[in-house]
Amino acid sequence: MKTKILMVCLGNICRSPLAEAILKSKLDPNYFFVDSAGTGDWHVNHAPDPRSVAIAKKNGLDISGQRGRQFRASDFKDFDHIFVMDNSNLKEVLLLTENKEEREKVTLILNALFENENVDVPDPYYGSADGFDQVFKLLDEACTVISKKLSNQLFQ
Ligand code: 4NP
Repeated sequence: MKTKILMVCLGNICRSPLAEAILKSKLDPNYFFVDSAGTGDWHVNHAPDPRSVAIAKKNGLDISGQRGRQFRASDFKDFDHIFVMDNSNLKEVLLLTENKEEREKVTLILNALFENENVDVPDPYYGSADGFDQVFKLLDEACTVISKKLSNQLFQ
């Protein structure tokens, strides 16, 4: 069975679609499934923000076919690892957990880079294109670390 990873942000149109595509590009699809969702419902069925589509394209990834969906409690059963982009997402997701097993699946994605520091991926929605560039770089670095850890677990 594949290891399933879910990327979560607020709208599921800026950060988590990038995180989904970046991690997917670093993992073997025979062993891993990666998806994304938002804690909010404003962008359900919407395409990603054009600025995220553009920065992905600049880096060789096509996220234009993704569509927004809202995070749901059943995701705790369907996914093995849930990476949230910021502390607000963390709070929202943890509110829906029912037990320790579910809570242990949830991690702030940048803790892969800055262990135990609980750093946010900045929300670029109301900012400039520069913000998307910075978000892409942070997610790319974090996903490199995460993909190595996950791939190593396959052989343990
Ligand atoms: P995301 O960014 O959580 O990275 O997808 C946002 C997208 C939309 C909104 C907020 C953040 N919004 O308020 O609609």
